[in-house]
Amino acid sequence: MEISGKKAFLPPRELVRGSNIQTLGAWADEWMNATLTDPDGFWLDVARRRVIWRKEPTIGLEGDFHSARRKPLRWFGDGTLNVTETCLDQHLQKHGDKTAIIWEADEPGTGCTLTYRELHEKVCAAACMLYLLGVRRGDRVVIYMGMVPEAAIAMLACARIGAIHSVVFGGFSAESLRDRIIDCGAKLVITQDEGLRGGKIVPLKRTCDQALVDLGQVERVVVFKRTKGEVPWTEGRDVEWKLSDATYFPAEVMEAEDPLFILYTSGSTGKPKGQVHTCGGYLVYASYTHETAFDLRDNDVYACVADVGWITGHTYIVYGPLANGATTLLFESTPTYPDAGRYWDMVDRHSITVFYTAPTAIRVLAAAGDQYVFPYDRSTLRVLGTVGEPINPDAWMWYYKIVGGERCAIVDTWWQTETGGIMISGCPAATPMIPGSATLPLPGILPVIVGADGKPIRSPGTGRLCIAEPWPGMTRTIWRDHERYAATYLEEVPGMYFTSDGCSRDKAGNHTISGRVDDVINVAGHRMGTAEFESVLTADPLVAECAVVGFPHEVKGQGVCAFVVLISTTVPEDLAARLNALLRDKIGAHAKLDVLHIVPGLPKTRSGKCMRRILRAMAKGEDNFGDISTLADPSVVQAIHDIVRAQPSS
Ligand code: WT7
Repeated sequence: MEISGKKAFLPPRELVRGSNIQTLGAWADEWMNATLTDPDGFWLDVARRRVIWRKEPTIGLEGDFHSARRKPLRWFGDGTLNVTETCLDQHLQKHGDKTAIIWEADEPGTGCTLTYRELHEKVCAAACMLYLLGVRRGDRVVIYMGMVPEAAIAMLACARIGAIHSVVFGGFSAESLRDRIIDCGAKLVITQDEGLRGGKIVPLKRTCDQALVDLGQVERVVVFKRTKGEVPWTEGRDVEWKLSDATYFPAEVMEAEDPLFILYTSGSTGKPKGQVHTCGGYLVYASYTHETAFDLRDNDVYACVADVGWITGHTYIVYGPLANGATTLLFESTPTYPDAGRYWDMVDRHSITVFYTAPTAIRVLAAAGDQYVFPYDRSTLRVLGTVGEPINPDAWMWYYKIVGGERCAIVDTWWQTETGGIMISGCPAATPMIPGSATLPLPGILPVIVGADGKPIRSPGTGRLCIAEPWPGMTRTIWRDHERYAATYLEEVPGMYFTSDGCSRDKAGNHTISGRVDDVINVAGHRMGTAEFESVLTADPLVAECAVVGFPHEVKGQGVCAFVVLISTTVPEDLAARLNALLRDKIGAHAKLDVLHIVPGLPKTRSGKCMRRILRAMAKGEDNFGDISTLADPSVVQAIHDIVRAQPSS
């Protein structure tokens, strides 16, 4: 079938029976009620049904997108809770022996499982350990770990105490880790001796030590021994992760609006933003969206192969699935270790029913070939999800046909660190699927496409994606910088939340996200600011100035292209390697240049502003640069273009 001229697929029939929402009409009704008819009533009802409260909330939303510029929005403001009672305690009586976590360690078939009872005990014991080390309500704890169950246990143990965790992705460099530790004011860091990924050692403790040099604020470093390799030890500061026999730790009673965690994201300026998610609203939204977007069922084996260092790991490995009493998989390795069949081998061995990954992984695996998929039994799969970047229709079709055998629903889920959970996505048994389109907003979400004139475009149309009404899962502020929050999200289009994404909507109301309209690039699902790259590159004494832009990349979604002006005319042979080493040191191994152009100058306006759109067009391989008459020196465009053409991007 076709929808608005695009190929579309009906939800697989076998999904409908047993599904929570079986028709497009039922989905539309829920959306109407949640979004337009009675948002407060809808969310309060969801909140009461899905979350265990110490005191049930009677208030829904307080504030709007105008008032939020001064004072953070609030949801469920008079409610109190501890999120671990929803994620753990509530399941003990009926489902204590159900598997909560399946840990698939780096080597295929190794790892362990934890039941809800075991997880509860470990979280209590870990909370006890942290408490004895001085962690209290409101303290910040940085977690710098790989994909081990102890990472989830550490997060939940913080939540149990009422401490605010900030997980820093294990691929970040010492300097990035240090910046985040300082920004959130953490007094304790939890790390591990070494990580293991694709057979390779990740020196987490060493990097952590480097990050902490002369940083008195961190009193304690808790080290989980994963590999038991030799690591440096600072007596008096470092303590080994050891769980006591304590099997109960009382849950601290938190206000709904108390922060649950801080997670740093990149934006268009250099400094990462500490996104603050709260206990009540976040948990309600995580739980509701996890069940609806994946059409969760009782016996599901649910696997999200993201990293807990990103929001996907927080919401859809830890908080959402555990709140829903699901079995959630934690994956330590990579999609291609030991070969490109790893995911499907896992699906087969663990009888996975719902599988959630990123387009970049799908493209890598599709390129490796179907022969890595077919040997494995994938008949348990029912829902296949993607997140992180736009998925191209080819990759979508491969996921649908080859992985899912045309029997599974594909949900292309659009959301952001800031949104806390899925915002635009199909509903597995109800909505027609369109390859490449995230399709429809979830109940409670009112997307608006804003045109260049700042006015909403009635569908169909293309423009900047905004959200017109608040939802419970959104970040409330940027840690200790509410002004920046207001400036980034609430001032672009007054009265709305601005997503920084471009989007088009068809006649049927389906949304297709085109990607960021700010200076953020999304490389293999890693969100990075071009300004972060630029500040590192200009720190090299050889670099006079530079501009970094993204360009379409077949596998990674976007690649990174740098235009660099050097101080002297001699170009060292190893310049690219040298700059990449610098980026690895300052940001992390995921920050790498794909293309480097040494240019005589940058296209600057008379006021000195670099016209990045010209560089973006060049990096894309275009040769029409539009109006360049406002440049201080228009001839530089030709000079750069000649260089780019002589060295086509790979
Ligand atoms: C940016 C947010 C949400 C968890 C992972 C990324 C892009 C995300 C999609 C999608 C097209 C997508 C957007 C967004 N993005 N999902 N399904 N289709 N684009 O979180 O690191 O905060 O990045 O990822 O550009 O703004 P994040």
